[in-house]
Amino acid sequence: MEEKQLLINYKVYDTIDELDLQDKQLLIEAKEASKKAYAPYSNFYVGAAILLDNGEIITGNNQENAAFPSGLCAERVAVFAASSQFPDEIIRKIAIYANTDKFEITNPISPCGACRQVLSEYEIKQNSELKIILMSEKSKIVIFDGVKDILPFMFHVDELKNS
Ligand code: THU
Repeated sequence: MEEKQLLINYKVYDTIDELDLQDKQLLIEAKEASKKAYAPYSNFYVGAAILLDNGEIITGNNQENAAFPSGLCAERVAVFAASSQFPDEIIRKIAIYANTDKFEITNPISPCGACRQVLSEYEIKQNSELKIILMSEKSKIVIFDGVKDILPFMFHVDELKNS
């Protein structure tokens, strides 16, 4: 038996003003998107903003449904929109912002497992990392360099191949 450790690096910023302009702008877009979320059941409003290599910013927010599992998280709404409109463009960054009127969110929320898996698909497809920027209404800002940092041991498409 061998015991191993995994080290994950990430950055924490106290305020949005410490970020470079591009990251700050992307978070502001994510916040704006969160205001348009359709979340009448959870009252948890999430916005995502994606920066593509061509400079386009694509946003999305969570879309809920009375049949709960039919809804979709902000991250997948945004990344599917980005990939459907710009299928060949590299996704550089995603900023994710959460807010609720029910209580104070003091930690950044990070993508659910399904969204992590979906994001990993695009990272593998484009063969370059996709920066993840997280913030909630009253939280610090947390930045990961790529999906591997939030989804270690991810299922990889290569595992479908016999080589
Ligand atoms: N939600 C997101 O949109 N993104 C996340 O990363 C976590 C959760 C949404 C799904 C649902 O509409 C609401 O937040 C409560 O889970």
